[in-house]
Amino acid sequence: MTYIKQLADHQDEIVTLKGWVYNSRSSKGLHFIELRDGSGLCQCIVSVDEVGEEIFEEAGKLKQESSVEITGKVVKDDRSVGGYEIHATDVNIIQIAENYPITPKDHGVEFLMENRHLWLRSQRQWAAMQIRNTIQFSIHQFFQNEGFVRTDAPVFTGNAAEGTTTLFETDYFDEKAYLTQSGQLYGEAMAMAHGKIYTFGPTFRAEKSKTRRHLTEFWMVEPEMAFYDLDMNMDLAESFIRFIVKSVLDKHESELEILERDTTFLKKAASEPFKRISYTEAVEQLKSDQTKELLDTMESDRNEELSSIKKELDEIKKEHGSAKKWRKAQIDQRIKEIHLRIDQVEEDLRNIPVWKKSAANFEWGNDFGGSDETILTMQYDTPILVHRYPAEVKAFYMKRDPEDDKLALALDVLAPEGYGEIVGGSQREEGIDVLKARIAEHGLPEEVFSWYLDLRKYGSVPHSGFGLGIERTVAWICGLSHVRETIPFPRMLGRLRP
Ligand code: 4AD
Ligand code: MG
Repeated sequence: MTYIKQLADHQDEIVTLKGWVYNSRSSKGLHFIELRDGSGLCQCIVSVDEVGEEIFEEAGKLKQESSVEITGKVVKDDRSVGGYEIHATDVNIIQIAENYPITPKDHGVEFLMENRHLWLRSQRQWAAMQIRNTIQFSIHQFFQNEGFVRTDAPVFTGNAAEGTTTLFETDYFDEKAYLTQSGQLYGEAMAMAHGKIYTFGPTFRAEKSKTRRHLTEFWMVEPEMAFYDLDMNMDLAESFIRFIVKSVLDKHESELEILERDTTFLKKAASEPFKRISYTEAVEQLKSDQTKELLDTMESDRNEELSSIKKELDEIKKEHGSAKKWRKAQIDQRIKEIHLRIDQVEEDLRNIPVWKKSAANFEWGNDFGGSDETILTMQYDTPILVHRYPAEVKAFYMKRDPEDDKLALALDVLAPEGYGEIVGGSQREEGIDVLKARIAEHGLPEEVFSWYLDLRKYGSVPHSGFGLGIERTVAWICGLSHVRETIPFPRMLGRLRP
């Protein structure tokens, strides 16, 4: 069996591909079957002269998503998707699919989400999952190259790590347990045993609002390093993100093309130093005239885009009636894309007034909301490292800035183009008395943290770490507007199936 991805190594040979029909059309003694096999797409040409009447007729019954084995000669053809096509000598049907629900009708997002188990086969979804895989692999590569030890944190925990409002509680025999919000506290213990470690696993937060960047179950990678201060932590976060972006750019030109991803900003993230600003500078930026102008311009641009894209929609809908079958398929695809884009633009237009208000009313001491991050990142070409946040809005374990006790030695990385926070981290408090006081201030029960406090009793050292959310990173790199398309089966408020 040969995979489509390997066809370049088999030019002019006879191979057998096994896969699913992505598209098919017929004309005068020929079937053009676009086959997908998980590794790519390939056009297979079935000619009656080559395969004979019987097989030709059978192949004509192949509807979308039917499973099939096609044997034939590999012919180089630059116009063909993937650069090669198959001139079939044999077609062996495995199963004829029922009427496939996903295409060619145009569907709303809710329908697609209900059919996520099938939607995953579509090109854009396929491309995003391929990139997700590379992101995860490159995370391991980076840390393993840097001498980090991968370690696993438990999913059932007895204590909160990131505030008590988003805890999922569950019965654990006679006790209550929580699903982990972060592996960090366990990572700190392992860092005291191994120096530099990272955890990588699913984390859970009962996020009670629907936003484009919140899931209730998401994957997080969390490095933790003994003897690292905030600056070392920021340097690590920057080179780590750069490595991931480079890996995707190196490997996924064609997938990024399928996603119609403009890679200008990704290339900058792969080569230029990230912008570093303090929280206080970021607040000034947010409230500046420059920000106001940017939002005004954006609003008029989006309005223009909306009217032109709606015009295109009207025009191609008219064309649809008289179009040939192959053209109809193209139009259907385009209609689907336009609807998605309209959804996005309309969402922006609903958001812009909210962003304007949020920026104008922002006060020092508040935490940045999604809108504030979006506005900030739209003003820089590279990711931004924002450091030194008001301690009040951050977690109990963060060390205060020795220069200013109101500030925590925290860092967030905000991804450009409006994406916002992909990393949160900090230097940790290493003094036991201060840490006990913080636990009390946050209204947390000290007993459940006794093991964590031990880390400050036995050879406490300055240490730091951060967490990178996989789904938000995939969304940014793939240019997806919502995290629901960044994980095979997203879990969000109101979404537990499929
Ligand atoms: O900023 P957060 O809450 O930081 C922590 O959990 C720290 N304990 C990490 C550490 O220092 N080891 O979350 C880290 C990242 C966010 O920047 C974001 O990318 C992602 O996790 N994240 C979410 N992703 C999707 N849905 C959610 N509800 C998320 N909450 C956080
Ligand atoms: Mg955060």
